[in-house]
Amino acid sequence: MSGKQVFQGAQNFSISGGTFIAADSAREALSCPLSQANQLLSVQVKYYTTTGAGDRATSNAAIPVKPNSSIRFTGRTNVLAKLKEHFTAESNGKLRRRKFFLLYGMGGIGKTQICLRFIEDMSDCFSHVFWIDASSTDTITQGLKGICNLPEAQSSALDGSPQSALWWISSLGDNYAMVFDNADNLTPEELEQYFPSGLGGNILITSRNSGLKHLTLHESSLEVKEMEEHDAISLLLKAACLDKSQEDLQAEASKVVNELFCIPLAIDQAGAFIAFGDTDIRDYLKEYSRYRERLLSCPAFQGASTYNRSSSGS
Ligand SMILES: Nc1ncnc2c1ncn2[C@@H]1O[C@H](COP(=O)(O)OP(=O)(O)OP(=O)(O)O)[C@@H](O)[C@H]1O
Ligand SMILES: [Mg+2]
Repeated sequence: MSGKQVFQGAQNFSISGGTFIAADSAREALSCPLSQANQLLSVQVKYYTTTGAGDRATSNAAIPVKPNSSIRFTGRTNVLAKLKEHFTAESNGKLRRRKFFLLYGMGGIGKTQICLRFIEDMSDCFSHVFWIDASSTDTITQGLKGICNLPEAQSSALDGSPQSALWWISSLGDNYAMVFDNADNLTPEELEQYFPSGLGGNILITSRNSGLKHLTLHESSLEVKEMEEHDAISLLLKAACLDKSQEDLQAEASKVVNELFCIPLAIDQAGAFIAFGDTDIRDYLKEYSRYRERLLSCPAFQGASTYNRSSSGS
């Protein structure tokens, strides 16, 4: 059986003690014989990903899969270019300075998606990627314990504690990447405790809290704002499974995305609503305004965001 047959259709699957994530580098393995595919996998797969709510445990902490970016990922070229420039720029001094970057902005604006896409695009540039669910100190702690269960870490005889995981990561040299995703509820001081020691590595943070700039400095942070209109239109039509070449559909889509402030979460949900046949794109705004007030008056949506707008209404 060829490597192509073995891996055909595979997205995420487990290898002993760890998890393989389908990625561009691994996709190359699909078109070569099995022996070469195995080689490619063992050499190239360096995505180590953890969250607090894992689905698989080797000791007391799980190593679940890193999410893939959305299959409908659209746009964000400027932000991705800025991240790429930031993390590939040569350091001035002799000592390698750790590079930080914070993406902040309202819920549903696309911070996590941008970060996922960036890591996927840059997979060849990082020796290791650690994806940490930073929603709380508990999820971070669980994530770090999960890292201790990685085969590569186990050969360093770690004691399973978060501190030993941090020590191991700091020993990996300059070129690892560590993502603290959704660090919305931690103070800068709380989050900083979970940075590996030393001057190496690359740290990305996503958060609704712009106060985390305190850790990355102003010039290494960026507010993620609404999508550009043409990208938002493209996303809506993709999500709605509609033909994006039709001019009349583009005009309808333009009205919808502007009503939704070009917020990707809202647009993706609106597209799904249309795709499922709940409404036609031409009637969406009528339906939307009919239900919007009722939805927004629901207690679950109130106070959900410190920003002026919310994607909940879609
Ligand atoms: N560039 C994009 N292309 C396509 N869909 C997107 C894009 N960005 C975001 N989305 C959609 O919006 C959803 C929310 O995005 P994401 O989780 O990145 O937001 P966030 O800013 O991290 O929100 P939170 O603060 O709640 O963590 C995604 O699950 C996806 O459906
Ligand atoms: Mg997020």
